[in-house]
Amino acid sequence: MPEAWAARENPLPLSTEALARGEQVYQQYCSACHGPLGQGDGLAPAVAYFDPSPTNLALHGPAHGAAEYAWIISEGNAESAMPRFDTKLSEKEIWSVVHYIRHGLADEQDEQYAQAHQH
Ligand code: HEC
Repeated sequence: MPEAWAARENPLPLSTEALARGEQVYQQYCSACHGPLGQGDGLAPAVAYFDPSPTNLALHGPAHGAAEYAWIISEGNAESAMPRFDTKLSEKEIWSVVHYIRHGLADEQDEQYAQAHQH
């Protein structure tokens, strides 16, 4: 991850609003590939041909830092089907969806973690 990104933290407080907004963005822009629950099983017909296939985001959840997610969502991966979103989404939408991946798509244990740590 480029250094300019590594130093960044999610500027949005983790809140039910941020999660709700992130969920909206996710369902609209990401679920076709990553699946409605983030399991990498999106319904877009092309998904079957993607190599690598869309990441199971529910599994990755909080394992990656917020900055790492924001970076790949913003800039995409030129070597895979992962598009860049910095031209389609506002920064706020990107950081909201980062919250949603790390805390909304994740399982109950992670929810408890999120509540205990608030970041
Ligand atoms: C056109 C299909 C497609 C769409 C739409 C899409 N992705 Fe992806 N995404 C992929 C593929 C394929 C990969 C796996 C290859 C890679 O890591 O580049 C990926 C990888 C990722 C990764 C890297 C995961 C990791 O831990 O390495 C993240 C994070 C991610 N996507 C988030 C999103 C988010 C958030 C959205 C919506 C704003 C989104 N993607 C929309 C196809 C898509």
